Amino acid sequence: MHRDLLNISYSEETISACVRGLGQRLAAEYADKNPIFLGILKGSFVFMSDLIRACDFPLEVRFLTASSYGSSTVTSGNVSVSGAPGTEIAGRHVIIVEDILDTGTTLAKIRDMLSAQNPASLKICAFLDKAECRRADISADYVGFTCPAAFFVGYGLDYAERYRNLPYVGVLKPEVYE
Ligand code: XMP
Ligand code: MG
Repeated sequence: MHRDLLNISYSEETISACVRGLGQRLAAEYADKNPIFLGILKGSFVFMSDLIRACDFPLEVRFLTASSYGSSTVTSGNVSVSGAPGTEIAGRHVIIVEDILDTGTTLAKIRDMLSAQNPASLKICAFLDKAECRRADISADYVGFTCPAAFFVGYGLDYAERYRNLPYVGVLKPEVYE
């Protein structure tokens, strides 16, 4: 385990079993729909790469970039979005792929922006769901793990751009960011 972590919350093996299960659930819904998996960068890129390989049906991948955190562990409330798909998602089945749903501010903004483009359907697949921290009126349709209100890193999740490459997820020691 990395020495900046308090624990390993989700091991590589636990994550891999979880993602396989998500792939099967998505197949039941989307196998004949050629959906667009729309990842929110940067945090979702590791989850996305495992998730699509757990999905044995035709699909497309796109990404957009959202930033709200900077180097803090508390949401700034200011969300900026770039690279958003335009009319190309009209009539398509879209699954937003997110690393972690926290207050929901980021995803609520992205969801409203995408809904305006008239997709055939719009759902959310979040690797982690900090359900107790929710402030915006939003929930994920597919959730890897419901997690407590700690600050997690690894498996794409960063603190100040670090730790994304850890193959597991753990809680960062508070002294690292205090
Ligand atoms: P909101 O509050 O808008 O935030 O739902 C979602 C975004 O905040 C980041 N976030 C985290 N990043 N560990 C991280 O590395 C965490 O525990 C954490 N909680 C929130 C993340 O970028 C997410 O997209
Ligand atoms: Mg981040």
